[in-house]
Amino acid sequence: MGKDRIIMGVETSCDETAVAIIKNGKEILSNVVASQIDSHKRFGGVVPEIASRHHVEQVTVVFEEALKQAGVSYEEIDGIAVTEGPGLVGALLIGVNAAKAIAFAHNIPLVGVHHIAGHIYANRLVADLKFPLLTLVVSGGHTELVVMKEHGHFEVIGETRDDAVGEAYDKVARTLNLPYPGGPHIDRLAYEGEDTLSLPRAWLEEDSYDFSFSGLKSAVINTVHNAEQRGEQIRPQDLAASFQASVIDVLVTKTIKAAKAFGVKQLLLAGGVAANKGLRAAIEVAVQELEEVELVIPPLSLCTDNAAMIGAAGSVFFEKGQRADLALNGNPGLDLTIHN
Ligand code: KG4
Ligand code: ZN
Repeated sequence: MGKDRIIMGVETSCDETAVAIIKNGKEILSNVVASQIDSHKRFGGVVPEIASRHHVEQVTVVFEEALKQAGVSYEEIDGIAVTEGPGLVGALLIGVNAAKAIAFAHNIPLVGVHHIAGHIYANRLVADLKFPLLTLVVSGGHTELVVMKEHGHFEVIGETRDDAVGEAYDKVARTLNLPYPGGPHIDRLAYEGEDTLSLPRAWLEEDSYDFSFSGLKSAVINTVHNAEQRGEQIRPQDLAASFQASVIDVLVTKTIKAAKAFGVKQLLLAGGVAANKGLRAAIEVAVQELEEVELVIPPLSLCTDNAAMIGAAGSVFFEKGQRADLALNGNPGLDLTIHN
């Protein structure tokens, strides 16, 4: 047995300031997340300028807390993995610059991580990855089907043509006057309602693994407005249940079809919307029709933004020899295939 590999993960791409310490790519020694949700709630969404200010205030404290909870010092850290993009540029820059400063001061190698690679690798904290695998990535900014034939190699076979699924959840929640982020509220309401409204499903072309949620979102908004004009009441629970049924139907059907077509050994869920109870339950049932495909779903705390996932991905890229230098910059439009 060689020496343990200790990687620090840093994530500041949106509204969580997060630092984690990961041992040998799979074991979480600490995972500290400072959420700013309360500050953004009253604006109904993330305000980029406020996010940057909070990151500046929190980042040093979060680094120290992560080291303290893990019981390690900078001398024991073999690499720092930081989210390079995509995300809010001002928010990304705080994490990237903090990571660079520490890397320089303590002479620690640096590696840049794509945020979605992080979400996918959250699964490696739960199970060993078996290739080829398929991940359904569902977050506030992304909806993608990603095939991996080996570590660090990402092929996007389908993606949203308009809204990300989390974005649609948050907009529908806003229409129902629910607080930000709306996903968990819709999820909760959906369990108390029934799919009575038969909302549309955007299947797109027969052979496409792409998604579209803007039509569904508009259908929900129109349904609410039309009812208001007629002075009728729609139960928010039924609206939530109908919206969620439409989303899950399309996501699960396309995911299972892709898993068959690509002959994958594993199916992973990733991103904030992977915390959705309805989606988790539906994919668990649907995967049973596939022979010998293992389903892996991270626990809720590893689905939403965190730094353990960045440390997990960074550990793999670090072993593959990937390194960033001190010219590393935040890149809001970063492409996932940078790791290929
Ligand atoms: O991955 P994430 O934490 O941040 C991004 O990278 O975007 O995802 C945040 C998104 C938000 O849109 C939030 O409403 C959604 O994940 N979300 C959920 C649930 N929990 C979080 N959506 C549906 N059901 C949930 N239980
Ligand atoms: Zn995310």
